[in-house]
Amino acid sequence: MFLTLNPYRALLGAANKRHPRLGGGRQPTCLGINACSGSVLERGSPLVEAYIRRVTFDVPAGAYARFMGRYSEPLAVRFAELAHVRAGDRALDVGCGPGALTAQLVDRLGAGAVSAIDPSASFVAAIKARFPEVDVHSGVAEHLPFPDDSFDLAFAQLVVPFMCDPVSGLLEMARVTRQGGLVAACVWDHAGGGSPLTTFLRAVHDVTPGARDEAEVAGAREGHLAELCEAAGLGNLQATTLTVKVQFTTFADWWEPFTLGVGPAGAHVAQLDEGSRDILQARCAQLLPAAPFEVAASAWCVLARA
Ligand SMILES: C[S@@+](CC[C@H](N)C(=O)[O-])C[C@H]1O[C@@H](n2cnc3c(N)ncnc32)[C@H](O)[C@@H]1O
Repeated sequence: MFLTLNPYRALLGAANKRHPRLGGGRQPTCLGINACSGSVLERGSPLVEAYIRRVTFDVPAGAYARFMGRYSEPLAVRFAELAHVRAGDRALDVGCGPGALTAQLVDRLGAGAVSAIDPSASFVAAIKARFPEVDVHSGVAEHLPFPDDSFDLAFAQLVVPFMCDPVSGLLEMARVTRQGGLVAACVWDHAGGGSPLTTFLRAVHDVTPGARDEAEVAGAREGHLAELCEAAGLGNLQATTLTVKVQFTTFADWWEPFTLGVGPAGAHVAQLDEGSRDILQARCAQLLPAAPFEVAASAWCVLARA
């Protein structure tokens, strides 16, 4: 299968600038120039897989809310508490999606003190409608459209795995945060089996041995998020985990959001034929407890200083 890679050209082509405090000059190491230049690449190459990870968030905000928002909204409450977000600070939500964390920042700081950015057109439209007074941008972490030292706090909730170049993205977050300000990121524990997708991924492996999955993505294994932050020159790292619990009344309540095409998991289900989808669904049902049941999801979390 071949795909033409155009839509992210404007967003990623100019990615990355120098970081004055860190003596930057780092260049993005993936996607960006090649994948955004309109060339035709073969499905399965790392560049194309990176692209697919991005476009699978061009879905309605309501679909995202049903699929991931039910986990990311309670996570955002815990993340904002952990970061001690206080009135008077200016904050940036990188990869804001439809606004799970933005909502927490607005509650604590007021809409005028919050900026948000995401490459997904549908999410940007949704967040603008939801928070008209928030400064919302379309763009990527690797090329933030803000001057140096614009914020006291910069957050990336569940975004690092989707960045073209996570170290460049974190480095940009540090650049736009004042010296000594907070740069905070969290990523689901896919590798340790503690993510909202753990049962789904196990079922995918059971029915498709050798399948690749999100366990391999940036920041998903213990210690990796801290390593990425260190590589971006961040200091005073504090690593912890945050866990949220979500209730499901029926199996259908759990399964149906996987059919909405959201994220890599949704994209995987969408490309299956009906028979394969039924097999995967049945395997998920076998692996889950009888309804009603609870899913606990844990995220690796790092708080660091710019
Ligand atoms: C799992 S969602 C998280 C959304 C939101 N932060 C939340 O917690 O619900 C990942 C988000 O990262 C965005 N994204 C993908 N690539 C990105 C990049 N290079 N820079 C910033 N955001 C990106 C996607 O559009 C999507 O909204």
